[in-house]
This record gives sequence, C-alpha cells and structure tokens, in this order.
Amino acid sequence: MPPAPKAVSKDYVPVFFPKRQGGAGAAGGAEEARTSIVVVGHVDHGKSTLIGRLLADTGSLPEGKLEAAEKASREEGMPLEYAFLLDALLEEQAQNITIDTTRIGFRYEGQSFEIIDAPGHREFIKNMVTGAAAAEEAVLLIDAKEGCKEQTRRHGLLLSLLGVSQVIVAVNKMDLVGWDQARFRELEKEIREYLGGLKIIPREVIPISAREGATVMRRDSKNLGWWKGPTLLEALVASRAKKPSGDEGPLRFSVQDVYRFDERRVVAGKLESGTIQVGDPVVFFPDRKTSRVKTIETWGDNQASTRVGTGRCVAVTLEEQIFVERGHVGSLPDHPPVESREVRARIFWLDAEPLRLQAPVTLRLGTQSVETRLVAIDRVVDADKLEAVNEAREEVGRFEVAEVRLRCRRPLVYDAHDQVAATGRFALQRGSRIGGGGIIIFAEYSLSLAKAVKGEHLTWTEGRVTSEARAAHFGHEGAIVWLTGLSGSGKSTIAVALESLLFRRGIGSMILDGDNLRHGLCADLGFSIEDRAENIRRAGEVAKLMAESGLVVISSLISPLRKEREAVRASSHSAGLSFAEVYIDAPIEACEKRDPRGLYQKARKGEIRGFTGIDSPYEKPENPDLILHTDKESVEDSVAKLLRHVLGLVQLKEKDQESAGGPGGQI
Ligand code: ADX
Repeated sequence: MPPAPKAVSKDYVPVFFPKRQGGAGAAGGAEEARTSIVVVGHVDHGKSTLIGRLLADTGSLPEGKLEAAEKASREEGMPLEYAFLLDALLEEQAQNITIDTTRIGFRYEGQSFEIIDAPGHREFIKNMVTGAAAAEEAVLLIDAKEGCKEQTRRHGLLLSLLGVSQVIVAVNKMDLVGWDQARFRELEKEIREYLGGLKIIPREVIPISAREGATVMRRDSKNLGWWKGPTLLEALVASRAKKPSGDEGPLRFSVQDVYRFDERRVVAGKLESGTIQVGDPVVFFPDRKTSRVKTIETWGDNQASTRVGTGRCVAVTLEEQIFVERGHVGSLPDHPPVESREVRARIFWLDAEPLRLQAPVTLRLGTQSVETRLVAIDRVVDADKLEAVNEAREEVGRFEVAEVRLRCRRPLVYDAHDQVAATGRFALQRGSRIGGGGIIIFAEYSLSLAKAVKGEHLTWTEGRVTSEARAAHFGHEGAIVWLTGLSGSGKSTIAVALESLLFRRGIGSMILDGDNLRHGLCADLGFSIEDRAENIRRAGEVAKLMAESGLVVISSLISPLRKEREAVRASSHSAGLSFAEVYIDAPIEACEKRDPRGLYQKARKGEIRGFTGIDSPYEKPENPDLILHTDKESVEDSVAKLLRHVLGLVQLKEKDQESAGGPGGQI
C-alpha cells in the first residue's frame, strides 16, 4: 500500500486523540467506532468551559497540561479557567487544522467520543452538510440565567434541519441561579416544548455547572442533591449504547479520488454508510458499473482489511478495471441510492443575499458537486418566529427555512435523509461561499412520473447548450400549454388557431394532439384509467423534451385525471419550464350537441365503452391557469385570451438576455 495520498485528507481534519486511557492510543482510537458530538450553544453559555471540563475530568488532556494550567492559575491567584485549557490545546493543534472545525477526542468508560467544535452557525452548517464533520449527537447548551434566547431557538432549528435528532440539553451555570430546582424545571419545560415543535425529543435535560464541575462527570450532592437523573457523561454513554450502528445501513461509498499505481487503480473514498467487504459486488453510480472488491486498505495503519465499517476512509482495488471517478457513489446492488435530477429538500439559508428562483448555485453532497437551480418554493418558515410565511415567494431569505425543489444539471446520487443521513444532506455554495444547507426529503411526483429507472448501465449525457442560450437564439422561452377538457370541448380548434398565431409572430410552436399521438407513440394504449395515465405520462415527457428544445408546446389531450396533470406540471416546473394548465370548459351537453365525430352518440348507444363524461370520469382542474368558456365565447375571443397568456409566459426575461451573452450562454 502506498502512503496515504495527500488529497484524501483535505476534506477531513486530523483528529487529536488522547493516548492516555487504557493505552488505546491514536491507532486504537482510529480503529474503534466513535460518537461524534457537537456542542451547540452561544459562546457565552459556556461552550469552551464545558469542553475543557469534559477533557479534564475524563483525563483526556495531554500529560502535564492540566497540572500546568492549575499552576498558572494558582500563581495568578485565580480559579482554574477550563475554557483556557481548550484554548491551549487548540493552539498546539493549530498547524494541523485546515478547515474551521476542530475535533477533540476523549474517552469515558471504555467508549470513544469526538467533539466537533465550530465557531459559528455558518461553519457548523458547512461542516455538517459537507460531511466534513457530521455530528450524530448534540449537546445543546443553555445558560440557566439567560434562558432560551433567540440563539438557542436557532440552534434547535438548525439541529432539526440537519437531521441531528439525538439531543441532550445541558442547562449550564446552575451555580449562578443558586442551584434552583424551580428555575431548572421552568427552563426544561420551555425547551422541551420548543424542541417538541421541531420533532426533537431531547433524550435528557440535565442541570450542570461546567465551571464547578457539577453533573458533567461527577455528581454534586451538596448543590444538586435534588437531581436524580444522569450526569452528562452518563447520558452520552447511554445514548451511544442505544444508537443503532451506522454499519447496518446500506453501503454508500463516496469516491474522493482514483489513483493509479503501476497497473493498479486504487479507489479512495469514505464509507458514508454501511460496510464494505472483500468480494462484495459494488455498483458505482451514476454510471452503474459493477465490480467486485478485491482488496480494502485503510489509512493510518496501512493495513489490509477484509471488512470495514461506516465513517472510515478506505482505499479499494477492484477485480475489473471499470471507470470510476470522484463524485461517484458505490453501493450494493440490492439497496441502491436514488439517482435523479430533481431533489425535494428542506433548506436553511444563511447568506445575506437571498436565494432566488432559477438562480444557479452549486449543490455539494459528499464528493459530488453539481450546478443546480431552485425551481419551486413550496413552503417557507421564518426561523426567528418559527412560523409559516404564507405569501407566495420567489426567494428564500437569510435565516429562512424552506421546503423547495431543486433541479440539477445532471443527475445527483442521493438518499432521503431519513433513510441514509450522510447522503441525504448537502450544502449550497455560491461562488466560494457556503450560502446554506439542507436535507433531502422525497419527491413522490418524481417517482410516480419518472418511473423507477430500470436500465442498469445508464448514463446521462449533458449538452453544452444551455436553456438561456436557446431562449436567446429563438427570441423566446420554451413552455408547455396544456389544454384539458372533454371530447368535443374545442381543444383541437383552439390549439390549431394558437399555433398559427404564435408561428406568425416568429414563435416556434407545435401541437401535441391526443388523437395524433394515439396513431404512433401511444398506439398500444386504450382508454382504461391506467392506459390514459400512461398516455398522459408519455405526452408529458415528450412535451418536456420539446419545450426544453425551445418550442412552445400546445398539448391537446382530454387528460381527464387531476393527478396526472399535476404530475406533468410538477415535473415541468422541476425542469425549469413554464407550464400553463388551460381548462377548455364546455358543459357535456354542449359537447354532446356538437358531437363532431358522432362519438357521444356511439357512446350513448353503448358502441364505445368508457367514454369520458359518459361512463368514464373527467376531473375538472382545481386551479387552472386559465379557463376558456368555449360554449359562451367565440373561438377568436378564446384564442385571443390564450395568446395573451402564452406571450406573457414565453417572453424573454431580462436575466436571460444578460446571461445569454455571459459564460452560461455559450453555444
Ligand atoms: S386521454 O383521456 O387519454 O387524454 P386522448 O386525448 O388521448 O384521451 O384521446 C381522446 C380521443 O380519443 C377523443 O378525442 C376521441 O376521438 C377518441 N376516443 C376514443 N375512445 C374514447 C373514449 N372511450 N373516451 C374518450 N375519447 C375516446
């Protein structure tokens, strides 16, 4: 095994690990599972003091450190400041630290912990979501005197967003409130209620004094005799015992780099979840190339292993020489990750400049980095007030939380956060700045509409012509105008008229007619509910392709079912396309009277079965973008209305004209 390549360590900070207890040492520490803890809380709430105290009490400080600090304090005639212990320690590590996170290890009762400390919100989110420092457990620190201030609320919200559901609340500085039980209970109630609203049930709420060393490791029977619950360390140990091992999750192997040594190719990366064993058939997404694992080696010890678990960085050689690169994700064939261009997520935005619809940002998930756009904002929550913002929004502002849909330029490999946490969270980066982060929640529509991809050896080819460049070239945007209504309601008449009017204005358009499609693409489909659903799905996919090519697609299908129409709308929006549902509203009596092809008559006689409106349902649109009453107004009037609507939809936005000339607009 060659020495660990430098590049691998760049995302991961070296861990300081104590050598004292039980002689476990750095190598031993690296071998065993560690619980990563993040201590969140306002600086003034005693974060550094608590960390210093944890290290001192558990004997995890380097030899002589505590004694030296005690001596220095004595000479100054001051009590020992535990916060300084931490500072001194960090200074020593400073040359090793490449990003703004520090990791500090300690051991207690035979278990290993690692504290991830981040100086602020932004760094915390960045580290959490990029996986540089994903904490499994959080200690939320509250100042007994100050109580649950805004900061605490925000920290709670952050934890819930980033999916850290294992929370222990430490009510610190109990000495400053006279060790008062009533004050503690009042705070406990308040914080439990607040966290409950975020669906976080704290495992314990513990009264402590980090400065005095009460209930961190030792009990303080004199001052906190009334406290019958666990100490902070007992609580941490207990939660470690309860935690299901990440090794039980499906395999997710994030590829960081591929190195070539002589004839061998070594695939280096991190096990985000699951275990990897020699002989396993590993499928690498998104290319879906499979090969068996030949050897596994881990960093640090340079030793070959046969089986390695979650959280470790490994170097793997494969039986076959398949193409794998940074950003690929390895999995076992039976539990593959999701691969799609659409992501439904809950995001938290930090940057002063809001995240606007359609603005490009870089999504970073593990080692993947993909250009993405916000295509829909479904829900916004004000993080300060924790209230839903009701008005329709075009942007997500600072400190807002939103449920959104993102559209990536090429497929992203991911999991829903509640399935696999590590591959379910991401960062959003603008330029070199992390603007926010989020976790992935599932998008049912994309599953129902896009269907599960069945093919195994699929890739996604990405063109270089951007949609902005196309729009600038044609002088208008592509869009989908979806006409829906009963047979005989006038869809085709309106579609034909609209197409000519658009064409005369130099707007490229094309009709997708239900009857026509059934002569070819959909020739195998009948009129059962299932067949109609498939008919709409196919028409929707074709409409999307055509609209992506820059055309205004006028679809003219009965499309009787709401669910399918909504699916096409959602999927068009996800593709960044404008979509208008236009209800061609003529009562069935009017349609039956017109009966241009005598179909209603046949249906009444029972010669056609399952005819829409007679013995097959038509679900009216609930919120159509436009309704045309073809029984009350002339064709010209209806078409004029529709034309106005469509022109508004496809008009070039200023940003398109600007960006078409810029770097995004190359053809
Ligand atoms: S959809 O329901 O799947 O959207 P689509 O628009 O493709 O229907 O096709 C409707 C056309 O098929 C009608 O205009 C009519 O000419 C013809 N047709 C034949 N049988 C039926 C039926 N049972 N119900 C509705 N339309 C039918």
